[in-house]
Amino acid sequence: MTDYRRLRVALLGAGVVGSQVAALLRQHGPELADRAGATLELAGIAVRDVDAPRNTDLPHELFTTDAESLIVGADIVIELIGGIEPARGYLLQAINSGADVVTANKALLATHGPEIFDAADQVGAQVYYEAAAAGAIPIIRPLRDSLAGDRVQRIMGIVNGTTNYILDRMDTEGVEFADVLAEAQALGYAESDPTADVEGYDAAQKAAILASLAFHTTVPLDAVHREGITGIDKAMIDAARHAGYVIKLLAVCERLTGQQDAGASGEAISVRVYPALISRTHPLASVHGANNAVFVQAEAAGNLMFYGAGAGGVQTASAVLGDVVSAARRHIAGGIGVGESTRANLPVVEIGRVVTRYQVTLEVADQPGVLATVAGILSEGRVSIATLEQTVIGESEAGSGSARLVLGTHKALEQDLSETVERLAESGVVERVVSVLRVEGD
Ligand code: NDP
Ligand code: HSE
Repeated sequence: MTDYRRLRVALLGAGVVGSQVAALLRQHGPELADRAGATLELAGIAVRDVDAPRNTDLPHELFTTDAESLIVGADIVIELIGGIEPARGYLLQAINSGADVVTANKALLATHGPEIFDAADQVGAQVYYEAAAAGAIPIIRPLRDSLAGDRVQRIMGIVNGTTNYILDRMDTEGVEFADVLAEAQALGYAESDPTADVEGYDAAQKAAILASLAFHTTVPLDAVHREGITGIDKAMIDAARHAGYVIKLLAVCERLTGQQDAGASGEAISVRVYPALISRTHPLASVHGANNAVFVQAEAAGNLMFYGAGAGGVQTASAVLGDVVSAARRHIAGGIGVGESTRANLPVVEIGRVVTRYQVTLEVADQPGVLATVAGILSEGRVSIATLEQTVIGESEAGSGSARLVLGTHKALEQDLSETVERLAESGVVERVVSVLRVEGD
């Protein structure tokens, strides 16, 4: 057996992901040592409660509540606690004491990323975070390294496993939202506060991280437009299916030209998360369960697709351990860590400046002239109709009931569309705006 140098690994957190990282580190120790060129010694595991029941055979003496002492003398610190504090403080302590750090904490990176990357730059340490976006899928390294010589134009992805699991079960089995959320929590996909998933915060954090890497620009979390899936009901899912679509929570990050307040380069970016309609024939439509998929369109490489498990303990542990091996290799080789590339400094435009297609569902009075009024308002608002379907609803006789109008638009400016929908709502012929959904994927 090769006598490798020993590297001390401190693990912070032994929950859904941390317990699997610890188990795999111990199970595959010799193999990982051969790959890393160093023996990875699990020095200890910091948790909140050392006596909490755990579904693991990890030795009790590895556990401690004293994370700060564990970090002292560690070569690699793995942070799998989640949230902002104490995770932020521990990562900064680890960096300042000479460790390389591995984290899956998108909430922390999306809010305090620049502080953590600056701290690492100051001391030449490296921050690894492959598991912070799209779980097991390798997407951070492809964006940071493999595509460093290309120009990414657009990313469109399903980056939250919990919401994809919920929407998929609602679509394929007609299950109610609340029942599926409880299942996603039981399976370990959801964040400790599932609001982070269903309201789109988790996807927005990942979108900020992906856009920062793709466009070499620091993207603050509050610049990401965010809408969750709590407003999506069974009727909307059924209507989408009827029209040949499926509803997915999408993260869209794109490079824009021709914006008034573009940077010196003449370019800007849009970063947004919302439930959108995509065609059932689109590859993203067949992303089921807690899986994630990320489409990357790059100028030279063309279209690339990354697909796999977006959440789950052992799946995410794979990405974390890949980072640990990289950190160990770097530690052995020496030299300073590679900092984040943010020099492009592109402005992030507001949602009103985005151009996409829409599907607007209205309930209107079923009377002569109503369609002409609706069409007139759309035309005045610079919104062009691509498709129109009318269904008589209620106990309608000619001219006396209500009708449901499903309008598909050509590409329109979001600001024009939202002002037009407001005018429709106030027009006197529209009884109810049932839904407004963006259509993505072409
Ligand atoms: P869990 O809630 O399952 O585990 C959190 C762990 O952190 C627990 O072991 C807990 O200790 C420990 N902990 C909490 N507070 C402290 C503290 N103050 N000091 C020391 N330890 C503490 O989280 P997950 O494993 O699900 O997630 C971990 C990270 O990975 C998060 O950033 C999450 O966003 C990210 N992630 C999770 C994925 C998933 O599928 N679950 C996928 C991708 C990323 P104790 O056990 O004693 O309670
Ligand atoms: N809660 C997250 C999700 C975990 O459902 O995708 C993975 O980041």
